[in-house]
Amino acid sequence: MTRKPIIAANWKMHKGPADSTAFISAFLPLLDASLSCDIVLAPPFVSLAASASALAGSDQVGLSSQNMHFEEKGAFTGEISSGMLQEIGARYAILGHSERRAIFGEDDALINAKAKRCHEVGLVPIICIGETLEERDGGKIEEVLRRQLEKGLAGLDAGKMAESVIAYEPVWAIGTGRTATPEQAQEAHAFARKVLTELFGTETAEKIRIQYGGSVKPGNTAELINQPDVDGALVGGASLEPESFYGIVKAASDAYQAG
Ligand code: 13P
Repeated sequence: MTRKPIIAANWKMHKGPADSTAFISAFLPLLDASLSCDIVLAPPFVSLAASASALAGSDQVGLSSQNMHFEEKGAFTGEISSGMLQEIGARYAILGHSERRAIFGEDDALINAKAKRCHEVGLVPIICIGETLEERDGGKIEEVLRRQLEKGLAGLDAGKMAESVIAYEPVWAIGTGRTATPEQAQEAHAFARKVLTELFGTETAEKIRIQYGGSVKPGNTAELINQPDVDGALVGGASLEPESFYGIVKAASDAYQAG
């Protein structure tokens, strides 16, 4: 296994500033220097500042937003720019989560504009892709993933892509308790890497970390991370409690060190 795992907590619409601070106060003491794993927390926008303060002094945990606008400023009521995120200490931005696509109508072109902005300013995008159950049952997994990658990553710089993160989240596995099997995850990740190779070349594609997301728990992390193209996890429900999220971080780190 060549790529160091990256485990990210997507808190979605959970945890205001006080709860975020309480999580971090309980989570940081669980970490030690022997962990071989990048750790990212993505609280709601309003909790980023409190989270940054609570994390101060820890270089083991990075902060991410759950979304971002593609313009730097302007008349975009309710939106947040990359500059604002960087000012508050975010290093990553989750883009194109399936909930953003399905509930808020985000499409590949919009996600592409956001990814370009991230690269321009030096934020690391975590770009989400994944098929619905209907698409899987209709035999369209590859078609959907190819479209999301080709359109979502169009025109992006290979050098910056090497540092970027892709999150494969099959929609049917999100919040359902129905995790993809390690084989299903590996198959989709290998296909995504094949498309990334076509788009950016082998050297870059081999560096891009592809996270799996969808009902990841401490107990199923190792078998997922042990797959050759699974390089981390994007975690919803099981990231809301410090011990449970730490269990995922530790399992990923142990699997990486053993491999
Ligand atoms: P769950 O871990 O709750 O299935 O959510 C996955 C997800 O959507 C992370 O972005």
